[in-house]
Amino acid sequence: MIIGTIKEKKKFENRVSITPDEVKNYVKSGHQVFVEKNAGILSGFTDKSYKEAGASMASSKDILKAADVLVKINCPSPDEAKQLKSKCMVVSQLNINNEADSIKVFNSKKVSAFSLERVPRITRAQDMDILSSQANLAGYHAVIDAAQEFNRVLPLFMTAAGKVTPANVLVIGAGVAGLQAIATAKRLGAIVYATDVRIASKEQVESLGGKFVMVEDDESKNAETKGGYAKEMSAEYQKKQEALLAETLKEMDIVICTAQIPGRKAPLILKKDMLDNMKQGSVIVDLAVESGGNCEYSQLGKVVSKNGLKIVGHANVPGRVANNASSLFSKNVSNFLKLMNFEDKKKSVINKNDEIIKATLICSAGKNLIK
Ligand code: NAI
Repeated sequence: MIIGTIKEKKKFENRVSITPDEVKNYVKSGHQVFVEKNAGILSGFTDKSYKEAGASMASSKDILKAADVLVKINCPSPDEAKQLKSKCMVVSQLNINNEADSIKVFNSKKVSAFSLERVPRITRAQDMDILSSQANLAGYHAVIDAAQEFNRVLPLFMTAAGKVTPANVLVIGAGVAGLQAIATAKRLGAIVYATDVRIASKEQVESLGGKFVMVEDDESKNAETKGGYAKEMSAEYQKKQEALLAETLKEMDIVICTAQIPGRKAPLILKKDMLDNMKQGSVIVDLAVESGGNCEYSQLGKVVSKNGLKIVGHANVPGRVANNASSLFSKNVSNFLKLMNFEDKKKSVINKNDEIIKATLICSAGKNLIK
């Protein structure tokens, strides 16, 4: 089989979907790997390192024409999709609600397209879970970004000239990114608070040394879906949450926002009145900015200064640690491909009864399989 990857064209994208380490594994299993020239350069992987690993460097046009499996971080554009070999496989984050044009082209070419962000959150699929691998890095880097913008240090300092008090950090949303942010802020010596609408996260926050702050009522007892995600909360709950957070925020120096609702706009949690009562010099990092933001002042791709606060809205935070992010993404993909006998055989088999395949295969043989 020919496995190929091309340069990512999306703005703010520094990652690459196949790293030299994974090239070695594919080649060892009898596959050929084609990589577009300079595809890995922004993540720190040179063409030389790909060649040494056994890849052939080629143009995007040649790769799209030849690949039996095209691996990408982001959905191929309609123009890229038009150049694909018919009946090939595409493995990527396909974001099907926003990429209808590409998916139309996939169907016209009978492409089997797998959308990796749909990998179910089950134990067997943990090593294929790109949302987790990338969110982990984003949670870490959000704290580093906050520390960089903050005009104080995070830990307690005892010096001859006096004591420096530790920073108070609040993490909003204690999922994968939030838990990593808590752990990172703790390691840097901050006093860490966290909030979520899922009561299940309380134990996880506390096990990392964070203090859990949450509105607990009848609604919060059922705030989690079967899949472990948060539900959208009622206006009444949001009001209670606002009142609790407004008081908490007055004491905070850094806020890391990670709250998301799958498939929907992120909940707007930090509103103008709450923000205007925060301490001067406080920093907010909004990891939810790409899906609308948890903070009223956030702007995508910008660090905004407003009323003495700094609001950090970097786009594609995993891409800010592109080397690690690419390695983990690439490993997730190769684990995913093992589902199709990629490890030992040269012929792929798509087992449509497999729960992970069922959840991710969005179109095949000219038909949409997921609406
Ligand atoms: P996510 O990115 O969808 O959301 C992040 C966090 O924001 C979640 O904890 C969510 O509860 C919280 N949130 C949503 N609305 C909020 C609001 N209004 N106020 C405060 N917090 C709010 O979630 P993520 O990080 O992808 O994880 C979701 C779940 O999946 C978690 O339960 C996690 O433990 C679970 N999970 C399971 C895995 C497995 O079993 N293989 C792998 C990864 C995650």
